[in-house]
Amino acid sequence: MTETAPVDSTFLDTTAAEPTRARRLVICRLQVNGEGVAVVAPVHWTLLELLRYQLGLIGSKQGCDKGDCGACTVLLDGKPTLSCITLAVAVQGRCVETVEGLGVGGEPHPLQREFAERGAAQCGFCTPGVLMSAAAYLDELSSSAEPVVRQADIAAALGGNLCRCTGYTKIFEAVHAAATQILQRSKALADTSTDDAS
Ligand code: FES
Ligand code: FES
Repeated sequence: MTETAPVDSTFLDTTAAEPTRARRLVICRLQVNGEGVAVVAPVHWTLLELLRYQLGLIGSKQGCDKGDCGACTVLLDGKPTLSCITLAVAVQGRCVETVEGLGVGGEPHPLQREFAERGAAQCGFCTPGVLMSAAAYLDELSSSAEPVVRQADIAAALGGNLCRCTGYTKIFEAVHAAATQILQRSKALADTSTDDAS
């Protein structure tokens, strides 16, 4: 488990009208991108603040900061969650995945590759949140007994993520392409194991 340094006092407003609240710290223990961490943070911090200002994981964006835009979306125990309206102390012992943990072994995730190749990110501010919602959709699709890639399902999965630049078309195309690729790969693997067994 990684023990982080005490909270950076830059983020503690000790002159605040409620100094006792500002100074009250807690230790949050959780898994972040597969690694156990114990982080000292003010009790009122959100998960987004903990990720960005204590762990330095600045991929998740602080957009509206009130649950409207989806830019702060992370996976909490595999489910898309708005980290700007989730208290850090409420996720003790749980598993958080952020965009920084999406690729494996230095390789981009198929979603990231498709987004780059198809120009599905413009300013990129919404992209980390969109990618995490799309990753949850792909996990659900892969675990389905009869997986079918449908545009309507992709649109529903990304319904909480606002994008001001792309008009969504390229985002949907990229997610569709990554989903198709992953299903084809799983089918090829399943066919190979059937051949090996026979
Ligand atoms: S920053 Fe969390 S929903 Fe907008
Ligand atoms: S790419 Fe700019 S907000 Fe989505």
